[in-house]
Amino acid sequence: MTKYKVLKILKSAKGEYVSGEKISNEIGLSRMAISTAVKSLRNDGYEIESITNKGYLLKNNPDILNIVEISENLQYKRDNIIVLESIDSTNNYLKENYNTLPNKTIVVSDEQTMGKGRRGKRFESPKGTGIYLSYLFKPECTPSDVSSVSALAAIATKKAIDLTCNTNVSIKWVNDLVLNGKKITGILTEMSVEAESGHIEYLIVGIGINVNQKQNDFPDELKDIAGSIFSQTGIKTKRAIITAKLIEELDKLANSEFKVNKDLLKEYKNSCISLNKAVRVVCGNENYEAFATDINEDFSLKIKLSTGAEKNVSSGEVSVRGLYGYV
Ligand code: BTN
Repeated sequence: MTKYKVLKILKSAKGEYVSGEKISNEIGLSRMAISTAVKSLRNDGYEIESITNKGYLLKNNPDILNIVEISENLQYKRDNIIVLESIDSTNNYLKENYNTLPNKTIVVSDEQTMGKGRRGKRFESPKGTGIYLSYLFKPECTPSDVSSVSALAAIATKKAIDLTCNTNVSIKWVNDLVLNGKKITGILTEMSVEAESGHIEYLIVGIGINVNQKQNDFPDELKDIAGSIFSQTGIKTKRAIITAKLIEELDKLANSEFKVNKDLLKEYKNSCISLNKAVRVVCGNENYEAFATDINEDFSLKIKLSTGAEKNVSSGEVSVRGLYGYV
């Protein structure tokens, strides 16, 4: 897109004016087209000064999610990143288009109008303050080989947030990320398997991160449960910086073909706030209290029932006593 070519030139001028003529020569488009691109960038939130006989000057670096901002924060050149202004759901986008999209395609949106959460719930996805990202995997393996992907995605997301926001985020089994008792991230993994062959058609990991919302921005019913990195730390972080780190961590995960090792399991256990706590398990028609004692090698949760019997839980919702209003 022309406006992003213009943006790259303005950014590389590092605080100097660039003449309209120079930009138009570099891109090979008319001065008029450059002026239209500048208008559109201003609309997006960039402050661009223009002075006759001097040219254009980029005066700020706002929190905007676009391909230029994400790419300049990535440590390597990466294709197949689609950045949208608005979409119903980034997971749905990949589900609808997976046939024609290459493996490891990423779609990021500035807002979602129908963001999906687990168990048919909605994921609040307001414009301009969060990251809504989905990653398409087309792995050449069986579903059992990727059974740990949800937990591994939680570790990858925790790393991306901790490294860029200087936090120490906790994991609530299996993949909610929690900061100071508030849920700041949700992950929804969706998969389609061909019944006859067991071949995975797609595996989509969708990650929603509340980055810069104020606590008051959350709807009343979520205020006690949800928070954002900003509401919990008081520090605003540019979403493009977190997004780039998240892409790097998810790429590492894809390249390792979801292999679990002792270090990853240890990392997960060290951050897991569900461990050694009283929990409530809701799975299908079952709803019972137990005590979480360990995380197994496949990331299932080991629990002890009041009868003393032990059990492993690998799906369902597990509330932790003392968290999200569960007493
Ligand atoms: C949950 O905690 O219930 C899971 C929330 C997952 C939200 C993300 S945002 C990006 C992707 N697109 C969606 O529609 N949902 C996931």
